[in-house]
Amino acid sequence: MAAYAKVFYISIRFWLILGVECFIGGFHHFLTIKSGGSVTIPCHYDKKNPPQKKYWYSKNDQSKIYTNTSEENLSVIDHPDQSLFTVTMRNLHYKDTGDYSCVVETEGLSTIAYDLHLMVQSAPDVSVVSSSVSGHEGGNVSVQCFYISGYQNEPKQWCRYKDERCYTVGRTDTSQNSSVQISDDVGRRSFTVLMTGLRLSDSGWFFCSAGEVMNPVQLTVIKDKRRNKELLTVWLPVSAALLLLLILVGVFFTWRWKQRSKQDKHQIIEKNDSRTIDPIYCEPEDPVMSNTINDERSNKPPAGALMYSLVGPH
Ligand SMILES: *[C@@H]1O[C@H](CO)[C@@H](O)[C@H](O)[C@H]1NC(C)=O
Ligand SMILES: *[C@@H]1O[C@H](CO)[C@@H](O)[C@H](O)[C@H]1NC(C)=O
Ligand SMILES: *[C@@H]1O[C@H](CO)[C@@H](O)[C@H](O)[C@H]1NC(C)=O
Repeated sequence: MAAYAKVFYISIRFWLILGVECFIGGFHHFLTIKSGGSVTIPCHYDKKNPPQKKYWYSKNDQSKIYTNTSEENLSVIDHPDQSLFTVTMRNLHYKDTGDYSCVVETEGLSTIAYDLHLMVQSAPDVSVVSSSVSGHEGGNVSVQCFYISGYQNEPKQWCRYKDERCYTVGRTDTSQNSSVQISDDVGRRSFTVLMTGLRLSDSGWFFCSAGEVMNPVQLTVIKDKRRNKELLTVWLPVSAALLLLLILVGVFFTWRWKQRSKQDKHQIIEKNDSRTIDPIYCEPEDPVMSNTINDERSNKPPAGALMYSLVGPH
C-alpha cells in the first residue's frame, strides 16, 4: 500500500513538473552559478534496481537529454559503478536560469531522482573555489564555500548527496562526526570544511550550502601508498635475500659441476693418453669389478679405468 502511494505521489509530482502550467511544488535545491561558468550535478539512483533510462529534463525548453550524450555545453554521463549519472552544464547564460530534473525510468515508470532550480548570476549567492577536490587516504582535505552578505545568519552545511548526511556550522551534538570540522568566517563571508582521516568510502559527491542555496563538490580520496611502502620495506628485502640465496646456491652448484667436469676431462685426457700408449691396458681385466663401479657412477669413466691407465705404462 505504502509503495503504491509513494509511486502515485511521485508520478503525480513528476507530471505536475512536466506539465507546462501546473507546477505547484517548491524546489528544495537552489543552485547559483556565475554567468559563463559551469556546473556538474550528480544524480544518484537505486543501486539494487538500476533504472533502464536516465535523463536530464530541462523545463525551460522541455527537452530530455539521455545519459551518455556529450554536447559542447551539456553532457550527461552515466557512472553505473557509482550508481549515479552526472550532468555538466557549461558556458551558462542568464537564460539558462530555470528548473531542471534528473529523471530515471524503471519498468516504464518515470521518477524524479533529483530536481533543482538553477540561477545564473553575475555574483552567485553561494560558490566554491573548486568543485573538485582530492585527498589521500588517511589525509585531510579542506573546502572553502563563499556566500554573499544576505546569508550571514543562515545555517551553513556540508552534506553528502548519497544519504543527505549533513554537518552544520556551530552544532556540537553527538550526531556530528569529529572527522568533519566546519568553521564559519563571517568576516570573509566564507566557511571552511575540514575533513580529516579520509577513507576511500568518503569519495563521492557533497554540497556546501548556506540557507537553501547549495553548490556541489566532488571529493576523490586517493588510495594510500602505505601498503606499497610496507611491501617495499618488508617484502622487497625478504625477496631480495631469497633471490641472493638462490643465486648463491646456483653459483655453488655451477662451480661444483665445473670442478667435476674439469676433473672428469682430466681423467678422460689421462685415459686417452694411456690409450695411445697402450689401449689394451685400459680394458678392465675384471668385468665384475668394472660393472659395479659403472653402476655407482654411471656417466663417468669407471674409476677402475683410471686406476688401470695410471698403472698401465709401468
Ligand atoms: C556553447 O556556449 C557557447 C558560449 O555561450 C556558445 O557560443 C556556443 O554556441 C554553445 N554551443 C552550443 C552547441 O550551443
Ligand atoms: C554510459 O557509459 C558508461 C561508461 O562510459 C557505461 O559504463 C554505461 O554502461 C553507459 N550507459 C549507457 C546507458 O549506455
Ligand atoms: C564517523 O563516522 C563514521 C561513519 O561515517 C564512523 O565509522 C566513525 O566511527 C565516526 N566517528 C566518530 C568519531 O563519530
